[in-house]
Amino acid sequence: MAQSNRDGFTSTFGVLVATLGSAVGLGNIWKFPFLTGVNGGAGFLLVYLAATMLVGLPLMIAETMLGRTARANAVTAFETLAPRGKAGWKCIGWMGALASLLILAFYSEVAGWVYAYIVKAATGTIATTDPKVAAQTFGAMVSDPVSALAWQWVVLAVTGSIIMLGVAKGIEAVTRKLVPLLFILLLVLCARSLTLPGASQGLTFLFQPDFAKITPVVVLTALGLAFFKLSLGMGTMLTYGSYFRDNQDIPVTTTRVMLADLSVSLLAGIAIFPAVFAFGFEPAAGPSLVFMIIPAVFTSMPGGRLFMTIFFALTAIASIGAMLSLLEVPVAILAERYKMSRKGASLATILAVALFGVPAALSQSLAAKITLFGLNTFDLFDFLSSNILMPVGGILICLFVGWVYGLPNLERRLSNEGQLANRALIRVIFILVRYVAPAAIAIILLNGLKLI
Ligand code: PHE
Repeated sequence: MAQSNRDGFTSTFGVLVATLGSAVGLGNIWKFPFLTGVNGGAGFLLVYLAATMLVGLPLMIAETMLGRTARANAVTAFETLAPRGKAGWKCIGWMGALASLLILAFYSEVAGWVYAYIVKAATGTIATTDPKVAAQTFGAMVSDPVSALAWQWVVLAVTGSIIMLGVAKGIEAVTRKLVPLLFILLLVLCARSLTLPGASQGLTFLFQPDFAKITPVVVLTALGLAFFKLSLGMGTMLTYGSYFRDNQDIPVTTTRVMLADLSVSLLAGIAIFPAVFAFGFEPAAGPSLVFMIIPAVFTSMPGGRLFMTIFFALTAIASIGAMLSLLEVPVAILAERYKMSRKGASLATILAVALFGVPAALSQSLAAKITLFGLNTFDLFDFLSSNILMPVGGILICLFVGWVYGLPNLERRLSNEGQLANRALIRVIFILVRYVAPAAIAIILLNGLKLI
């Protein structure tokens, strides 16, 4: 299919970096550590790893393959690839657009905290290793409605202006430079954290599973994280796949992305948990965890203020790559289906996010009383997207590829029309996508929601 008249990534390396830019973000630095802390440590990590390998990777392969085949946005892709009369599959794309808005609503809020912490790090106002002081600083920030909203809008303005520039120029240019730098700073943090007195307790927490702590809810949360981490089940990887090159080896590229993403998360975990125990923090602190621990670790080392500022700046930049890929789902739908200009589509999407974002930003201040199922708006958006919409989207995509699209098509597409000798691998992927992944997701979902 014509590749030239659509915007796209300009090189194989560009594809890798941009896809990695979507995967790596606040999920690694903020969500992975905080969920691991809340859900009991190593056991959660183990389930998360299994979910990533058995469900996440096959689904990522399937999604990018669909995107590259259809060369279209998430809605149109299913319309094009579904057999005649079965265009209902396109609801996967619409669900994805909804998930993307929900995620962006709280994601832009957390990114706002990160932006605010860049300034606080530079001015030295978060330099403390005292759990009480750290908790107060964070609490004061999130409970101030004006600053919460203002920072969120700064984030949306920054990300929105990048996405208007287009895929190749905007996304590729921004993501290319950043991931390696972030990696290095994480290594520095690990070195400091691991040499703190009492560090080993953190490693035990992170790597020695206590199987009694693995409840159905923990398993669902780990699965949700696997989806969130690799941007799956809601059309992001499909949309990015539509910009992949025809000669891209999809299984190899996606495996690389998965492994690199995993190493960033593990490094973040190793940087954070030893310090949690060394300084006497609470591992189950929740979303505030990283915002207390990272400053503590930096404060305990020479040049900490400078490094801390750079760290939060890099995290902010990493969050941009992920947000661009989230925005790209609705933007591509609007631009391609409604013939909107890229600028108009970006603007409309950013405005929708700003609207959805208000209740998330105010969830710890003016909107604190608004709850559903005991969750405030921030937690609700997170729960609905990661633990419901993405897994359901994941099941549907697996069923589509495994039962409708079928093995012969999959073989053709994943071998790049026979150019790659990877038949055996494709059969394994097919079995995972057709049987293993959908069954596992369905059982975990029903079990986690206490429906069975
Ligand atoms: N994977 C991103 C992260 O971990 C978040 C994301 C989710 C991006 C879904 C795109 C789609 O930060």
